[in-house]
Amino acid sequence: MSLILGIESSCDETAAALVTSDREILAHKLAGQEAEHAPYGGVVPEIAARAHAEILTPLIAAALAEAGKTLDDVDAIAATAGPGLIGGVMVGLVTGKALAMAAGKPLIAVNHLEGHALSPRLVNPDLAFPYLLMLVSGGHCQILRVEGVGQYRRLATTIDDAAGEAFDKTAKILGLGYPGGPRVEAFARQGDPKAVPLPRPLVRSPEPHFSFAGLKSAVVRAHQSGAHKPEDIAASFQQAVVDCLRDRLEKAIQDHGSCAHLVVAGGVAANGPIRAMLEQVADENGMAFTAPPQWLCTDNAAMIAWAGAERFAAGLTDSLDFVARPRWPLDPTAEKARGAGVKA
Ligand code: KG4
Ligand code: ZN
Repeated sequence: MSLILGIESSCDETAAALVTSDREILAHKLAGQEAEHAPYGGVVPEIAARAHAEILTPLIAAALAEAGKTLDDVDAIAATAGPGLIGGVMVGLVTGKALAMAAGKPLIAVNHLEGHALSPRLVNPDLAFPYLLMLVSGGHCQILRVEGVGQYRRLATTIDDAAGEAFDKTAKILGLGYPGGPRVEAFARQGDPKAVPLPRPLVRSPEPHFSFAGLKSAVVRAHQSGAHKPEDIAASFQQAVVDCLRDRLEKAIQDHGSCAHLVVAGGVAANGPIRAMLEQVADENGMAFTAPPQWLCTDNAAMIAWAGAERFAAGLTDSLDFVARPRWPLDPTAEKARGAGVKA
């Protein structure tokens, strides 16, 4: 059995966790930065990096204390090394390197997306490779075939915005505040999803990708026209996202076949109508549907520690020279999607 310290700082959550290779979560600490970013309606990279730098070391100490462990008890230190906001990633990675060096423990540089991709296996020991993953968060919107540790096939990605980003922008347009996803979902419950005609970008396109930028522009126009109730815009927007995700998932299954399991990860997995749709698509295609608990779907360090544990078990550790990567595709063989790059 090995014990892994995980560190996460790639966006607006600072997190530290201690997880064993036996799937025991000994500590899992998280400090959000909602209050810092709220006045700006989104994450400000410089503010995020500074907040990570202030809070990470005490958070790691708190995680070790909660677990009743010291650095000597840890077998390896896993830190997110990308992709993400580079200032924040550097804070976490440098901290991980310093601890690894001081304690004489191996460093594992974890791809944040691999953290999301493997997280369902932390809570579900029966989830075997390969499985189909819908990764929908504020920074990512991808369909992946998870074939093994370090082995991913990207079946679809966004050519512009991520799904969560579209929710956040819609919330901003409708004046609902930040973070937008849960607010749009709650507001949409009072609206009519058929009231506002909105586009479904790339639906039925032969290219297997997502696009949400045009949907956002349409939301702006619908709002500015003054012809629609904001709750109807929210409901119609959410329905458009559901329809886009469904169409692209069905295409991926059609093109590449199904797996025993369909898994969802990322903050947008909290969305009720999106979850219901995924469950239905899984059912229609003879797949079991697995969703990790909500706290594990959004950014956290337990998933980084777990990805570290899986990599450690496979004998994969990294040199202290490892450089933080703002972009780091999980599937290096995947073709660049038109217009994409940032989130691929
Ligand atoms: O995974 P996450 O915590 O961070 C990233 O890696 O991006 O995801 C946060 C994203 C935000 O865009 C947030 O608005 C969205 O997930 N989100 C939701 C819901 N809850 C969170 N989107 C739609 N419906 C929700 N209920
Ligand atoms: Zn994430």
